[in-house]
Amino acid sequence: MNYIDLRSDSVTQPTQEMRDAMYTASVGDDFFGDDPTVKNLEQLCARKVGKEAGLFVASGTMGNQLAVMTHTARGDEIIISSGSHIVVHEVGAAAVLSGVMLRVVECKDDILTPEIIEKAVRPNDGGIGMHTSLVCMENALTNGKVMSLEQMKAVYDTAKNYNLPVHLDGARLFNASVALGVDAKELTQYCDSVMVCLSKGLCAPVGSVLCGSKEFIEKARRNRQLMGGGMRQAGFVAACGIIALEKMVDRLKDDHDNAKYMAQRLNKMKGVKVLMDNVDVNMVFFKLDKPKEFIYSLPGKMLEYGIKMAGEEGGLLRFITNNDVSRADVIRVCDVFEKILKEDE
Ligand SMILES: Cc1ncc(COP(=O)(O)O)c(C=O)c1O
Repeated sequence: MNYIDLRSDSVTQPTQEMRDAMYTASVGDDFFGDDPTVKNLEQLCARKVGKEAGLFVASGTMGNQLAVMTHTARGDEIIISSGSHIVVHEVGAAAVLSGVMLRVVECKDDILTPEIIEKAVRPNDGGIGMHTSLVCMENALTNGKVMSLEQMKAVYDTAKNYNLPVHLDGARLFNASVALGVDAKELTQYCDSVMVCLSKGLCAPVGSVLCGSKEFIEKARRNRQLMGGGMRQAGFVAACGIIALEKMVDRLKDDHDNAKYMAQRLNKMKGVKVLMDNVDVNMVFFKLDKPKEFIYSLPGKMLEYGIKMAGEEGGLLRFITNNDVSRADVIRVCDVFEKILKEDE
């Protein structure tokens, strides 16, 4: 059965062009700096985000954690908003791997502001007390929203007032740049390091790239080795990453348009309340005014029609559009969803 899979954009299949590129990629031993395809990918990504150097890593989580490890020392603090991927989904890695404290702050829509940073920051006064050594942002956010350039600048400028580096979790950086209609570099001018995922909406099967200054990336390369993340003939997968960056960015707009279409249709259905202000990219979050048992049964019911959806999380359901979901698929999902809701009336 050909499923329509709306659980995430990480479920996307590599394109035929990626499969062909994998087959023919020139590879070498990346430990010796010998893999030309990995090098090409790292340089391409660094160029796209306006940084000096890049480092190919196995996952977004590894890229974020390498950034944390490379920017900080044991016992330092990181200012980060409570809903961030690093806080919620990286199983305490910042504490376990880097020995740092997460100074988790509550922010509206998970968007840091100068006021919140000012309140939380513990400047390094050269003494033996706790101090902050990193500020982390995310764009696009996992709640479906995009931070504006002004919001990013405000965070960056505040961090710089305290001489703090800024890391950007850009798992969906290109979704943010497409949504804002600006070049990715416009966004990444407001960070010192950025992690970009190739394996979400951009459809590569594996991998992320951490970018920053040459010095930062050389340190991160050593830390990657410490984490066991050094790879050998990784050019086979890096080849897909090159296509992801060169060919798959502009089409993210289709996913965003599909999400907006879906949000509007779902929002008209009885009992459905879409978080319309959060449909900036390819994510549609909604509440459903139905008994818990019905909500829990929904993924199973949808699956009977060949549609995969994630279960409820924190009182919200979600659909994530992606390259393998066409407008016709989106229409079918809405029709099926409406039918299932009506059957329960
Ligand atoms: C915002 C954000 N950051 C980081 C990651 C981690 O990426 P990975 O699953 O490749 O470790 C994700 C994954 O969904 C994400 O959504």
